[in-house]
Amino acid sequence: MAGDEPEQQSPPPNQYDAADSALGEDQADSAASLTSSIVHYRTLHGRTYHSERGNALYWGSNDERQSEALDINHHAQTLAIGGKLYLAPLNKDEIKNVLDIGTGTGIWAIDFGDEFPDAEIIGTDISPIQPTWVPPNVRFVRSIDDWNVLFKRAYASLKPGGWLQSFEPSAVWETDDGTLPKDSALYQWGPIFTEWGAKSGRSFTVLEDELQRKAMESAGFVDIDEFNTKQPIGKWPADEALRERGEFVRIWLEQDAEGIVLFIAGVMGWSKEEVAAFLARFRREVRSGKYRPYFRNKIIWGKKPEA
Ligand SMILES: C[S@@+](CC[C@H](N)C(=O)[O-])C[C@H]1O[C@@H](n2cnc3c(N)ncnc32)[C@H](O)[C@@H]1O
Repeated sequence: MAGDEPEQQSPPPNQYDAADSALGEDQADSAASLTSSIVHYRTLHGRTYHSERGNALYWGSNDERQSEALDINHHAQTLAIGGKLYLAPLNKDEIKNVLDIGTGTGIWAIDFGDEFPDAEIIGTDISPIQPTWVPPNVRFVRSIDDWNVLFKRAYASLKPGGWLQSFEPSAVWETDDGTLPKDSALYQWGPIFTEWGAKSGRSFTVLEDELQRKAMESAGFVDIDEFNTKQPIGKWPADEALRERGEFVRIWLEQDAEGIVLFIAGVMGWSKEEVAAFLARFRREVRSGKYRPYFRNKIIWGKKPEA
């Protein structure tokens, strides 16, 4: 039933080459081969987290289980844009230098490097969870510690005519039919992050506050355009493509929702048992198909004016 589907902005016309949408098994395998001594930093309830580096205060686990979850989510998110790696109208012949900030396992940077063998790709991350076996034009470096000036720095670093693209998901799960009860774990997921974000100064309302567009405009970017999508969670949509995306998101969350929520819930005073009980409820609700949850994604891109 069309009315059951989350309204979607259609992906832009297929003016760029579609990237291979297969899951990055090679990359996941390579990530798994990193020695544990490199990634073991702080430990919480048996999960590992990045070491204190700058003021990042990143909340996600950095172990193998979470890395696999990141790769599954990467696949779900590229499906949402027709298997592409980017939407900015890049001039393929002119791409020389590419920066992927918060690269995670580096899966996007590696795929981009494969697609653009003549470009130099740098991925940054506070955790060294990237594989060592990567295309020769891809390398990884560590932290960016001040996200507030990030877009201004990006602007300063770009050549005239260069593009910045930013992807941001919302932490809030919603439904169009208002069926999500306030005591459901699905409903409670968002406030855990937005409350911690407000207290810690690491905002989880970047999308809602339209921070990407504001920061890009104030940095001086032009030709700003955006693509908004509602990402279904679970297999509730009737539409086959949306159901596939929803299933990958469910698999991503079942792979390791704990690694996403454990640190923040712990800071907010939850015990490991409370987190486990919450996640069990969360899994049941997603699997039940009773609700039609989704979260919003925003991809926005802008250009440094030509000289
Ligand atoms: C949700 S993951 C996304 C990973 C990857 N971009 C993807 O789409 O699969 C966010 C990543 O940002 C990294 N990160 C968080 N704060 C950072 C900072 N201040 N500087 C560099 N990387 C950061 C984290 O370590 C994590 O790997």
